[in-house]
Amino acid sequence: MAQITACIFDLDGVIVDTAVYHYRAWKRLANELGFDFTEEDNEKLKGISRVKSLELILGWGGIEKTETEREELASRKNNWYVEMIQSMRPDEILPGAKEFLQEVKAAGLKTALGSASKNSGLILERTGLLPLFDVLVDGNHVSASKPDPQVFLRGAEGLGILPEHCVVFEDAVAGVEAAIAAGMKVVGIGSAEVLNRADLVVKGLFEIHVPQLNNL
Ligand code: BG6
Ligand code: MG
Repeated sequence: MAQITACIFDLDGVIVDTAVYHYRAWKRLANELGFDFTEEDNEKLKGISRVKSLELILGWGGIEKTETEREELASRKNNWYVEMIQSMRPDEILPGAKEFLQEVKAAGLKTALGSASKNSGLILERTGLLPLFDVLVDGNHVSASKPDPQVFLRGAEGLGILPEHCVVFEDAVAGVEAAIAAGMKVVGIGSAEVLNRADLVVKGLFEIHVPQLNNL
């Protein structure tokens, strides 16, 4: 079995709980367009890119828009979202996330971010987590989004480590699929029923420690 030498982390839902901000911003947009957007709808957008999320939302509302209109809507939503995450603080880091990142670094393993978000830099900076990552790959650097493995393969490449030596931490089904497609191990964060393709599922990074990574 290949030794694990790198950890690649999704951001939203694994390290920080930004889903609530995405929810508020999408809901405001849907309401302006004349329909509602529920928390259950928001669940379906986990790990899904901004453009794809908007397509799904417009579909649920039964609304058609031109590409130019869609671009305007996506940036309107993003402006509201950015306004909210501007004031994020280190106390919004999910339980155990910072401690686990520190444990990983102290054990001499490499760390990368593998996120669909184009706002990851701002979030990591606001929460003070930037120095804990060796490589950052996010929605600004990929042409295909999860479940495509590109974001994780770029992360491994950036670290100079083969995929089989990497473990991914993910809360979204699309992200678990991306990790498997990349040929990596994957720890799911959330429900074992939903993330049933992951090698191990935990409730949060507070439940996992470095010695477990070579038994996945
Ligand atoms: C993912 C979130 O991490 O990033 C999705 O789970 C979000 O909900 C996606 O749509 C894109 O984020 P952003 O910040 O680029 O709009
Ligand atoms: Mg996520």
